[in-house]
Amino acid sequence: MPKIKIVPSILSANQHKLQEEIKDIEDYSDLLQVDIMDNKFVPNITQQAELLKKFSTKVPLDMHLMVKEPTQEYIKTFINANKKLKIKNITIHYEACKNPEKILDFIKKNGIIPCVAISPKTPLDKIKKFLDKVDMVLIMTVEPGFSGQKFIESCMEKVRELRRLKPDLDIEVDGGINDKTAPIAVKAGANILVVSSFIFKSKNKAGAIKRIMDSITNFSEQKYIN
Ligand code: DX5
Repeated sequence: MPKIKIVPSILSANQHKLQEEIKDIEDYSDLLQVDIMDNKFVPNITQQAELLKKFSTKVPLDMHLMVKEPTQEYIKTFINANKKLKIKNITIHYEACKNPEKILDFIKKNGIIPCVAISPKTPLDKIKKFLDKVDMVLIMTVEPGFSGQKFIESCMEKVRELRRLKPDLDIEVDGGINDKTAPIAVKAGANILVVSSFIFKSKNKAGAIKRIMDSITNFSEQKYIN
């Protein structure tokens, strides 16, 4: 399985002191997720590309676009928003696009890792034909749109199947991840764990990241012993 990474999502960070919040976690993060919502694909809205002008970070970004029909022009607004930031991945939702392949190809042409996401009710079968086009799949473990929801454990069936099909693929999970659910997701085969409220609602954000890492390590040791 590829390396396990914890990816803080800034959605539930205090937006009034975003830079400070990011400083607190960047030494402990391999990637930082920025959630973008349009109030069409999901019933919530965020700032769009201008959000990337509001902070700086040395950590590469994982852009999660919960947006209906993202066009090439729209994707470019993020690529061009702040050249000091490094966008590593852009994730689009299968359910939000008539032609996901076209947008995934465009993302790749721009030197960015193309990723596809599926919401909890979408079967894995729907994206099997794109698996060779993407370097990461995001299996949502809550309905996209809001932080602080409960982890949907039945989504692990999709993670297990995907890991069987693609032993080396980055499989990301997002929604309700904490020190109890992270081991469940890792056991199923996920290696990229997006976490928002468990980190940003904690007084000790670096400590929260460590608790998740420890929960995975303890779990792996237990599994090893058994
Ligand atoms: C949900 C977003 C998530 C969200 C996760 O639509 O994609 O990144 O911020 O929040 P928690 O970790 O609180 O479930």
